[in-house]
Amino acid sequence: MSSPLALSLSSNLLPLHIVLLTIAAVIVCHVIVGVYRSMASLGFLPGKIMFFSPAMVLTQFVLPRIPWISGGKNMNFVNKYSEYEKLGISVYRVEVTSSRTRFPKPVEEYGALAFFGGNIVVSEGDEWKKYRKVAAPAFSEKNNRLVWEETVQIVEDLFTDVWGDQKTVTVDHCIDITLPLALFVIGAAGFGKRMSWKDTEVASEGHKLSFKQALHHVASDVFIKLGVPHWAMGLTERTRKAQESFDELEKYISEMIQERVAEGAEEKNDLFSNLLKSNSEDTGPNTLTERELAGNIFIFLIAGHETTAHTLCFAFAFLALYPEEQEKIYGQIKEALPDGRLPAYEDRTKLDRCMAAYYETMRHVPPVTFIPKTVAEDTTLTTTTAQGHKVVIPVPKGTLMGIDTAGLHYNPRYWEDPEAFKPDRAGPRSCIGRKFFESEGIAALALFLMRYKISIKEELQFATETFEQRRARVLSARGGITVTCVYR
Ligand code: HEM
Repeated sequence: MSSPLALSLSSNLLPLHIVLLTIAAVIVCHVIVGVYRSMASLGFLPGKIMFFSPAMVLTQFVLPRIPWISGGKNMNFVNKYSEYEKLGISVYRVEVTSSRTRFPKPVEEYGALAFFGGNIVVSEGDEWKKYRKVAAPAFSEKNNRLVWEETVQIVEDLFTDVWGDQKTVTVDHCIDITLPLALFVIGAAGFGKRMSWKDTEVASEGHKLSFKQALHHVASDVFIKLGVPHWAMGLTERTRKAQESFDELEKYISEMIQERVAEGAEEKNDLFSNLLKSNSEDTGPNTLTERELAGNIFIFLIAGHETTAHTLCFAFAFLALYPEEQEKIYGQIKEALPDGRLPAYEDRTKLDRCMAAYYETMRHVPPVTFIPKTVAEDTTLTTTTAQGHKVVIPVPKGTLMGIDTAGLHYNPRYWEDPEAFKPDRAGPRSCIGRKFFESEGIAALALFLMRYKISIKEELQFATETFEQRRARVLSARGGITVTCVYR
């Protein structure tokens, strides 16, 4: 039997649905007021309103396109310039990319990438300067040469050990070639560890995985680590395996630090050895701890692996789609290396058409589609509409903004005929690993094109497609840590 007190309480309670509706109404009002305030703070700048920011992992990889809620997976790359064209307004100010004090990086968005230790990508201000000072000398001329020589060797090994004497090689998905290729280059020129196309590596003593396996799994499972909280990593077989590879790589990196320190003055030019060397030379308070060294070398792997692999892959796709551009590069290779010898590092300047093809590929398919920034002080950004009217946009301190690289790369204001593939034009880009990628890219492309003509696999079901349909199919891309090529 209910007590009188309980009875009187229950008779005073509102029905549950009223309570829930009231809470929902309060939340909706709160959101509407928040959106109105944000719009007012930006001077009612025209544009789309969405509940979830395009910078969020959830929007980038999980949520579909839902009006007012989410722009959908990889929305920046899907929309390219079209949204700005509809609005008649786009803003690109060089100071947003160049002034780290006024427009710093919202490092909290990258926090998950610090699991091996603080590093150059997840830091700002003095901390970033400290990392940059030690990291910059690692990307030395000698390292670029090493990248070149290792790339030549790795591609040669592919031709001899894997492809043998085959005159024609068909690969369903070129990423199956470029992902391991980029991994082996970063293994050799980044970590000083050579790897083979054949599965011959075994786990070192005290390890469950070989270095190659650990590096490969970490590179492919970084998403799991980013999306799943640490306490949940043991819950499924997949997440357990991912955690194991991260633990293994961390252990390998820690052992390598001990080994290299013990080896002393041995002349090696991989990023890892260079980083240790540059750190030992900086004896001041800025010397990095072992954990920070591990964090930085790990971030080189993450920043340099997929970006490079997907760019190489898309470059192959473009050159297959545009055989006349491929012929121009081939002509230059023949001219630079008339005797058919392997290209040496010194030949790279004679092979600038290879590099131009990459830059044009990256303009079309930027591996990084969104670069988030915050605003450190109240400021304004000035632009002009498509009709030529000047617009001053107030940008208050604390605003989260982002550089939409695909929107920028397809803006006809900067690129004439943006849809066309014209390697003869090239654009600048700021990345510490730029020379690393350039060495790898030129050497790899020159070697592939010396031996093979690249073409799109002919398949019966696609026999009647037009060039535009074929181009769209081959270049279809989805979001990942970098844009990825999904041709099959
Ligand atoms: C196609 C190849 C590559 C592309 C498109 C690319 C793109 C970029 C971009 C856009 C940034 C600036 C991001 C920002 O400001 O938030 C960046 C920074 C960076 N990249 Fe690359 N990258 C490539 C290759 C590499 C390679 C090969 C490495 C290392 C081996 C590397 C290491 C880094 C690092 C450490 C940073 C952070 C630099 C800093 O904040 O000071 N990248 N990259």
